This record gives sequence, structure tokens and C-alpha cells, in this order.
Amino acid sequence: MTTAIAHSNIALAKYWGKRPGLGNYPAVPSLSMTLGGMTTRTRVVLREDLHAHALVLNSVLESGEPLERVSRFLEDLRRESGATSFAWVESDNDFPTASGLASSASGFAALALAASAAYGLDTDPKTVSHRARRGSASAARSLFGGFVELAAGPLAPTGEEFLGAVQVAPEDHADLSLLVCVVSEEKKKIGSTSGMGTTAAISPYYAAWLEEAPRLFRKARSALLAHDFTTLGTITEASALAMHASAMAAGVFYFKPITLTLFERVRELRSDGLPAYATADAGPHVKVLVPSASAAQVGAALREVPGVLHVRCMQPGPGARLIVDDEAHEPGPIVPGNHA
Ligand code: DP6
Repeated sequence: MTTAIAHSNIALAKYWGKRPGLGNYPAVPSLSMTLGGMTTRTRVVLREDLHAHALVLNSVLESGEPLERVSRFLEDLRRESGATSFAWVESDNDFPTASGLASSASGFAALALAASAAYGLDTDPKTVSHRARRGSASAARSLFGGFVELAAGPLAPTGEEFLGAVQVAPEDHADLSLLVCVVSEEKKKIGSTSGMGTTAAISPYYAAWLEEAPRLFRKARSALLAHDFTTLGTITEASALAMHASAMAAGVFYFKPITLTLFERVRELRSDGLPAYATADAGPHVKVLVPSASAAQVGAALREVPGVLHVRCMQPGPGARLIVDDEAHEPGPIVPGNHA
């Protein structure tokens, strides 16, 4: 049995849209902060008695699309290793799953690392990041701690080109916090893969997004390295708004009224002199980037907004890692449905 843990990451300059073709290569570069919390813990056991991969997510045995996606991912690793055994996977998140809180990022990062180790494959972060990207592009970034970039893929990928994320700056580079305002425990209705697919297919503003996103990425990256928080925050908010505008023009809505209320509240706080910038992903939650010195004051203001369930304050955290799993553990029973 091998166990890995990985944390979510939140993009300051967003990835939205894929290169056409195989291999899940992003169409734009992205820059993220890996969080010190919002953790996925994934155990992988290779079992001779299974005839298909099995996935237990937050103690529930999965079937359908979540299992198929994970199985496709694991098949690549099984083939690469030459092993015959299928994998029994148990994965737990300490935060709401599939609701726009980057559970696929921490999920595929932890899975890529635990399964690479279980199948006896290379576990250096660069290689595992490349593998994780094939499962979910944002997951490539969670292999590394601190501030991380993932470049855009080649224009017409064959699926074979290497593309993993790279650390831009370590965890202690900037004393920043991200206030994660959770506004719903519901699963999102449109996953990011399908949301960005629809955006690329029908949004009249997708071409504008493809042009703008690399510029925003470059500005965010240099502002981060120059410790220019105002520019970094401004670009973080601009990237989220440009991404959502292109998605909304295709009828892909992740915002709820509370999302807009929070963006508005963050603007008010800024005009009152508090440094805070909002971002949102494929869900209604709002994440607010602040210098850590202002986190308590901004967090208190956000907690008062009606409809906010809770606010978690996250600092930059470490990349995915294998851990010694000392919890007594019985791998689950053989599942009749898995005997293909
Ligand atoms: C809005 O990485 O979930 O969070 O590669 O299809 O799995 P797939 O997409 P995913 O998309 C993340 C989109 C985002 C922005 C970001 O994290 O960069």
C-alpha cells in the first residue's frame, strides 16, 4: 500500500481551455499558489484479485464517470509499468469535493503520486506532475509547493510531449494568505472540463481569453517575483473575471448571487484601504488574496456577509508527498461489479 497527500492549489492566473488533440494540454499558461490546507489523502493498493480499478471517494464506492476518469488515468500507469494488477484506491478530502474548491487538483496530484509509487514508476515531482496533468491539468501544479506555473501545451500535441509544472517561488517567498469563502456544500453542475469545452466551442469571447490569458500570466508572474502585491492582486482578479466572462458568454455560469456580493464586498474593502483581491474557479466560492497581516481583518468582514458558510484562511503550502501510513488499514472487500 502506498499513501500520498496533496493540497489544493488556487490559480492566480487561470487555466481555462485546452489545446485541441490528445493529452490534456492547457491552451494558456497558469500561475497558482499551493495551499497549506485543503488536503486529499489517497491510498493505493495493487490487488491481484481485482479485474478492474476501484475507487472509494470519501468512503463511498464510486461508479460511472468519476470511476471511469480515474480508471483511464490508472490504465496509463499500469501500461507504463507493465504490471498486471488493478488498483484499489481510497481517497479522502478534508473539504467539499467537486464544488469548485480544486478537489480534482489535489485529487489527481495525490493519486498520480501514490499510484506511481504503487506501480514502481519514477516518483520525482517533475515526472509525476506530467502524469498528473493528463488526469487534470490543475493537478500538475499541486506536485509543487509555494507558487507554481504550468506552461501552455504545444499547438498540436500528439499526447507524447512532456509537460509538467515548475515551481516559481517557494512557500516562504511572500507572506500571503488566501481566504477561502465557502458558500455552498453542493457539487457543481458543470465540471471544469466540460465548462471549458463549452466555452471553447461556443463562446464569442474565447479567442479574446486566449489572447489575454498569457499576458495576465506574465504580469502576475513578474509581480509575484517583484513582491508587488497590488499588481499581483489586480491581475488575479482580472484573470478570474476574464475567465468567467468568456465562460458566461457560452452560458457556463458558476457564479451565484453570493459570489457577486463577495466580489463587491472585496471592492468595498479595497476602497476602505484594505488590500484584498477576489478570485473564483469553477464553482460559486470566492477566494480572497490578502497580505497575511490583513487576513484577520478582511476575514472578519467576509464572515459577516450573509450566505457565507465559513471562511478558511490558507497560507502557501508544500507540494504533494508520499507518507508513511501508520493507520491500521484493511483494504476493502472484492466488489462483485468489478469482475469485468
Ligand atoms: C478554473 O484542472 O479542473 O480551476 O484539466 O479538465 O481537469 P481539467 O480541468 P481543471 O481546471 C481548472 C480550472 C480552474 C482554473 C485553474 O485552476 O487554473
